[in-house]
Amino acid sequence: MNEIFNARVKLTIWYVIIIMVISAFFSGGVYRILVSELQRGLRAQVVKAIPTDAGPIFIKGIQEVEEEIFTESKKRILHQLIIVNITILGTSGLAAYFLAGKSLLPIEHSLNEQKRFTADASHELRTPLTSIKTEIEVALRDKNLTLKEAKKLLVSNLEEVDKMQSLSNYLLSLTKYQNGEKKLTFVKVKLKEVISEVLHKSSKHLKDKDISIEEHIQDLSINGNQIALTELITILIDNAIKYSHKNTTITVTLTKEIRHTTLKIQDEGIGIKESDIAYIFNRFYRADTSRSKDTIEGYGLGLSIAKSIADIHHARIEVESVQGKGSTFSVIFHS
Ligand SMILES: Nc1ncnc2c1ncn2[C@@H]1O[C@H](COP(=O)(O)OP(=O)(O)OP(=O)(O)O)[C@@H](O)[C@H]1O
Ligand SMILES: [Mg+2]
Repeated sequence: MNEIFNARVKLTIWYVIIIMVISAFFSGGVYRILVSELQRGLRAQVVKAIPTDAGPIFIKGIQEVEEEIFTESKKRILHQLIIVNITILGTSGLAAYFLAGKSLLPIEHSLNEQKRFTADASHELRTPLTSIKTEIEVALRDKNLTLKEAKKLLVSNLEEVDKMQSLSNYLLSLTKYQNGEKKLTFVKVKLKEVISEVLHKSSKHLKDKDISIEEHIQDLSINGNQIALTELITILIDNAIKYSHKNTTITVTLTKEIRHTTLKIQDEGIGIKESDIAYIFNRFYRADTSRSKDTIEGYGLGLSIAKSIADIHHARIEVESVQGKGSTFSVIFHS
């Protein structure tokens, strides 16, 4: 956090310089006005003479006395202004330090998040790399390695490479969608077609777990980016399959109300603990249930990408879930 502290100090110095320049400018003006007012008052007194019957009497030496008062008063004004400026310097210094801290807070947060993200991503990449390296090293040391064993090693390595590939794809998607909507082209997207395509691609996983799909899909279109929407629906269907028990049903509903088009994906799977729901859209967050079962693999990135895609489309994702019973993810598009 050293760089943030340095930035805070620099920002404080700039704030104080600006305040002090303004203060010095005004103090100069005040000083000049006060001095000229004082001079005017004293001159009037010097000119003021005591009228008598025999004409005005001028008291000698009065100008010297006034000169003394004038110099003394000037000194006092200067002294007071210096004290005022020192007080402003002190208070503005404290206030500026506080404000600089407040201004830098969002930057500090995003910097922390960036660091955590890099650490998490490197950690996730290191795991398959270590596994590949260890397997290759062990195989190389084995002088009697058979072709069958070598092939088994290659298959295992390929699985790890697949994992790394999916992680790098996720990371690329995150960067793409978190940069905002500017680069994405929006067209009229037929959601029914996108859902069919995603379900078709997932048919192998569905078959493996004997999961049936119930569809209540109206023929609706929204304005959006086809690739991003396909990715969003893929992530939600993928989760529904991944966290469902065997022999269950996933219900996909697409409906339109007056102002909203709502896509609902409901599963009868493991559900999510209430305390986890607030975090599942965070990058690299996985609920304990997903971590403890090593059969359910994942990085905890799917939903954070889904959330970014929804944000780009000004859509909202809502979750309802009961642990042990299942979850419903709804994407609400404003139309
Ligand atoms: N349909 C669901 N049923 C139960 N839990 C879910 C469901 N969808 C998401 N979760 C919980 O939310 C967490 C975050 O989901 P997310 O899709 O971001 O990551 P993941 O599925 O663990 O990994 P991946 O990065 O491969 O998608 C999951 O680990 C899981 O605990
Ligand atoms: Mg997922």
